[in-house]
Amino acid sequence: MSEALKGFDPKSIYDEASRDYEDAARDFWQYISLRTVERLGVRAGERVLDVPCGSGASLVLAAERVSPGGTVVGIDYAEQMVVIAREKALSAGLANVELSVADMTTLDSNQEPFDAVVCSLGLFFADDMPGLLRSLCDLLRPGGRIGVAVFGELVFDPMRQVFVETVAELAPGLEVLQPWRRTEDLSVLRGVFEAAGIADVDIVTDDDRLPLRSPDDWWRIIMGSGFRRTIAALDDSTAGELRKRCDACIAENAIDHIVSRTHYAVAGAKT
Ligand SMILES: C[S@@+](CC[C@H](N)C(=O)[O-])C[C@H]1O[C@@H](n2cnc3c(N)ncnc32)[C@H](O)[C@@H]1O
Repeated sequence: MSEALKGFDPKSIYDEASRDYEDAARDFWQYISLRTVERLGVRAGERVLDVPCGSGASLVLAAERVSPGGTVVGIDYAEQMVVIAREKALSAGLANVELSVADMTTLDSNQEPFDAVVCSLGLFFADDMPGLLRSLCDLLRPGGRIGVAVFGELVFDPMRQVFVETVAELAPGLEVLQPWRRTEDLSVLRGVFEAAGIADVDIVTDDDRLPLRSPDDWWRIIMGSGFRRTIAALDDSTAGELRKRCDACIAENAIDHIVSRTHYAVAGAKT
């Protein structure tokens, strides 16, 4: 088990969350991977790697952008996420997508080079983050570029704090594991690029206000995201009480939106 992730196991969590992930992503974080593709300026004829591709939102957009003539390779190690990504590519009628279940930290370095790599909400799951960046950059052709998106200091706030504080009250001793916090600080993110030997990186930070239409929306986020790991660690009655208190907080304070901050980094291949 990874020491950096303190027992958070992305493969099993996202496998289990996959359908809920797909449902909540559409309203609450899919824009992040789509913006990463936009910011990379993916264009017709290119060969693109999307890793980890999750349930395939950016994969589908990239596959449309590289047509005609280009291909997109999507990789994730949660099988059920790859199943959903494959369904999406098929229903979009895309024949230029290759998907596989594999570990992004051990990719074959002897493959046809890529013009662009999309890495949305995945970097912080690698034990060795500079090592992952270095290995992904090594897959680029000269002139190729990589786009990395990570959450900043705000993630679904203020409800995230409410969730964390309520877990602390109901289950003292249970830590809400949040691997995405490893790269929330801009200076840390820059440091990861530097340690990977990538000096020239452009980072843009966006804050997004996301409508919360009802307390149920908050629970869709919890069950579809990495916060699901906390629910899995609680007994049913404590999880029920946690939900009740989150619902009450949303209703009493008339919370109608949450805010997330995202850092988007784009860098060129090492020359
Ligand atoms: C938060 S999701 C992001 C997915 C997608 N890029 C997006 O923006 O929606 C994180 C994904 O990383 C995958 N993942 C984490 N570590 C991985 C690894 N070492 N190899 C492959 N996939 C990994 C998980 O299975 C999960 O699907």
